[in-house]
Amino acid sequence: MRIIKAKTYGDMSRKAANVISAQVILKNNCVLGLATGATVLGIYQQLIEWYQKGDIDFSGARSVNLDEYVGLAGSHEQSYRHYMDTNFFQHINIKQENTHLPNGMTENIEEECDQYDALIESLGGIDLQLLGLGHKGHIGFNEPDEAFEKLTHCVRLKETTRKANARFFEKEDQVPKKAITMGIKSIMQAKRIVLCVSGAHKAEILNQVLTGPVTPALPGSILQMHPNLTVVADEEALHLL
Ligand code: GLP
Repeated sequence: MRIIKAKTYGDMSRKAANVISAQVILKNNCVLGLATGATVLGIYQQLIEWYQKGDIDFSGARSVNLDEYVGLAGSHEQSYRHYMDTNFFQHINIKQENTHLPNGMTENIEEECDQYDALIESLGGIDLQLLGLGHKGHIGFNEPDEAFEKLTHCVRLKETTRKANARFFEKEDQVPKKAITMGIKSIMQAKRIVLCVSGAHKAEILNQVLTGPVTPALPGSILQMHPNLTVVADEEALHLL
């Protein structure tokens, strides 16, 4: 595990964007595993800025996102497809057909999950998986559980997670109850993982995830076992480590 200490959120975003940028430069047709949430927004902004300056070319890149809400169409403002399109894809030259998220509107969830794992495999696996850290130590929507869910699957979101995500919806009852998420195995098979964490409110959970026992009660703790994990976090998030 490599820990890159950043001074501020802006610094964390730049450092993480540098790692992603290096990946795209080194392997033009790389497969990027992407994440949503507030933490990674600054990274996308930085990458857009470098793209606009002519420093990065995403024309060969492919992407797979971690998760998507069940029941939200891509046109819904709170869908992760919409988040990715408006916060990143529309501003760079990645080909839309090379960007993938689980289909939250599928009529057959099980089939959609199987197909998503098959898709990742057919792309040759994920070169770099970007991750944020949930307030309960979850990655993607892999919430605390009794066992590590391995492959892409459907989860019933915990009330605490729905509450945390309610800030993006008008009312809490609009937050979907289910989501499709890549599983722990899908994530752990990525060749490189970049975990980004910012802010004092994540310090305790980050400390547990990186130094505590590896347990499905704290899904992110499995990352300790990954052979190529880079943590990019700011001083506030790292102050207990
Ligand atoms: C959600 C997402 C995760 C994300 C996490 C942290 O649960 N499914 O992918 O990493 O929240 O979000 P934030 O960066 O907004 O704190």
